[in-house]
Amino acid sequence: MFSTAFLDLPALQGASGTVTLPGSKSISNRVLLLSALCQGTTVVHDLLDSDDTRVMLAALRQLGCGVEVQGTTVTITGLGGRAWPSESIEFFMGNAGTAMRPLTAALAVQGGDFTLKGVPRMHERPIGDLVDALRELGCAIDYLGNEGYPPLRVRQPSLQLDKPIPVRGDVSSQFLTALLMALPLAAQDRAIAIEVVGELISKPYIEITLNLLARYGIQVERQGWERFVIPAGSRYQSPGTIHVEADASSASYFIALGAIAMGDGIRIQGVGADSIQGDIRFMDAAAHMGAKITSGPNWLEIQRGAWPLKGMTLDCNHIPDAAMTLAVMALYADGPTTLRNIASWRVKETDRIAAMANESRKLGATVEEGPDWITIHPLAHGQWQRASIHTYDDHRVAMCFSLAAFNADLVQVRIEDPKCVAKTFPDYFEALFSVAHTTALHIPVICIDGPTASGKGTLASRVAAALGYHYLDSGALYRVTAHAALQAGLTLEAADEAQIADLARQLPVRFEGEQVLLNHVDVTDAIRSEQGGMNASKVSVLPAVREALVQLQHSFQRLPGLLADGRDMGTVIFPDAPLKVFLTASAAQRAERRHKQLISKGFSANIDALRADLEARDARDMSRSVAPLKPAQDALLLDNSSLTIEASVEQVMVWWQSRQVFG
Ligand code: DC
Repeated sequence: MFSTAFLDLPALQGASGTVTLPGSKSISNRVLLLSALCQGTTVVHDLLDSDDTRVMLAALRQLGCGVEVQGTTVTITGLGGRAWPSESIEFFMGNAGTAMRPLTAALAVQGGDFTLKGVPRMHERPIGDLVDALRELGCAIDYLGNEGYPPLRVRQPSLQLDKPIPVRGDVSSQFLTALLMALPLAAQDRAIAIEVVGELISKPYIEITLNLLARYGIQVERQGWERFVIPAGSRYQSPGTIHVEADASSASYFIALGAIAMGDGIRIQGVGADSIQGDIRFMDAAAHMGAKITSGPNWLEIQRGAWPLKGMTLDCNHIPDAAMTLAVMALYADGPTTLRNIASWRVKETDRIAAMANESRKLGATVEEGPDWITIHPLAHGQWQRASIHTYDDHRVAMCFSLAAFNADLVQVRIEDPKCVAKTFPDYFEALFSVAHTTALHIPVICIDGPTASGKGTLASRVAAALGYHYLDSGALYRVTAHAALQAGLTLEAADEAQIADLARQLPVRFEGEQVLLNHVDVTDAIRSEQGGMNASKVSVLPAVREALVQLQHSFQRLPGLLADGRDMGTVIFPDAPLKVFLTASAAQRAERRHKQLISKGFSANIDALRADLEARDARDMSRSVAPLKPAQDALLLDNSSLTIEASVEQVMVWWQSRQVFG
């Protein structure tokens, strides 16, 4: 997951390959609650691991449910037939609507002393229609803040089941879903009817609910979309085992990607055209705009068809979440696209109509909006502007605008707060980068070099972490090469140059965080020793070895960008890097730092000896004929003698930002 402050997406030029999608949020949280309301144990496979499901799992644990998590398989031991907690419990629901609404209903019908709270945005998301319906039923619910909004307090109900329960259907279908899942708890000896007031929106989500209720033994009688009856004697029964389909709305980004990007097409694994999720109908809308889509059991394949895409007008009531993705496809169309009947966008994670309009405008687009519609005009060649996309803590805004990086003008797109995708798709950007491609020219490289003990490794890895970039410690490659050569019984001298170069060319090395693995064996400590450094120095003066490592080093230049640390990064390996930094801390300073470091590790050390060592090594490094230590001509010098690590990182970030001006 990218947990950086922002993520800069380079101009992306194409995409091909397969993505396996995480489980659906809507199905995951319904299945968790239903499993909790059953008697006995349910094994849930392919559960989504996200903020929303964590919120639900935490709440179920608080209620006394058995919850065992093993990767994406979760075993739930339900509360059915057991005593509900009598003590007062406070639940924190974050910004998870799919947890808040149904849990409120289930708790209110079952009764107890419960408080439900969330993040500030959750306290702005309406729940009054659900509370009204539950009160109609005899539930005791109080507002602790504003009327109609969380936080809520729930107490013991005195249920009145003799008349149908009215619920509004035109604000959020989650209210009806919540009632449908809670009422079987009360339908022991009589049928209970729910009557929808107003036009029901997001009907496909109700279909998911009915579908899943059936899997758990509850056969709801649906009379049109106005009346739902839960039969007398309804009782939750565990299906034993259940598989969660991949999220059809998550699929929308990759369906759109296949339609937008040049390449051999995108295959999506985990969901197919026969999905129970209504959002799968996004594929029809995408096809209408030009995508070429084929499907089989649990998979979809998408290719670019019409290009540019075709603008259209569409009633999006049936695909409220996935429809946001159409708004970004619209930027690549041949004419305006109008999405209608999307009033629910205004009350989601953020006001999504305003968000899509604002951010599309930053990219240069003309957008018109109304209470329940939006019109987006496409961007022609030459009109795209580099933009920093605000994401409003809304996963879908972030994922949608990542698709703007495929623009014909090759402008970059910055996604602010990229970790907000964790709500439904924590590894979204990793998945995107696994299929997206672009020429090396567009993948930024920052080079950092400097004398030994200057702290370049620490600086480079910190900057890499701040930008979400890959990190190449080229010194480690020379260290590993020397290690492998010695293991193979070679000397580190010119006599064995050709053999060492052969080894280096196919070095089975892998970097995992701080760890360096050679042939799956952890060699981190071995290569980090003083001796390891001297050995590296020996092999690093052999031209054939340097040549052999070039390709491996180039292979680190991957999306979204690279921090390259080491000797010839800015001169030989990545001469076109847009930022090169050369550290120039004095030998005295470096000696002092290393002295501190050694003492703190419990080694004895002499500061003057250390300094003499460093100076000798500098002299050797600078005067050697092969890859001598010297700044690239266009490198910026950073004297970090009196700077903290944080201040040095900040300086490099400032230099980098000044080269990346976003509108
Ligand atoms: O940065 P380091 O201490 O891990 O580097 C080990 C040795 O490898 C050092 O003598 C410099 C040399 N080296 C090199 O010649 N070229 C590089 N790109 C990186 C390191």
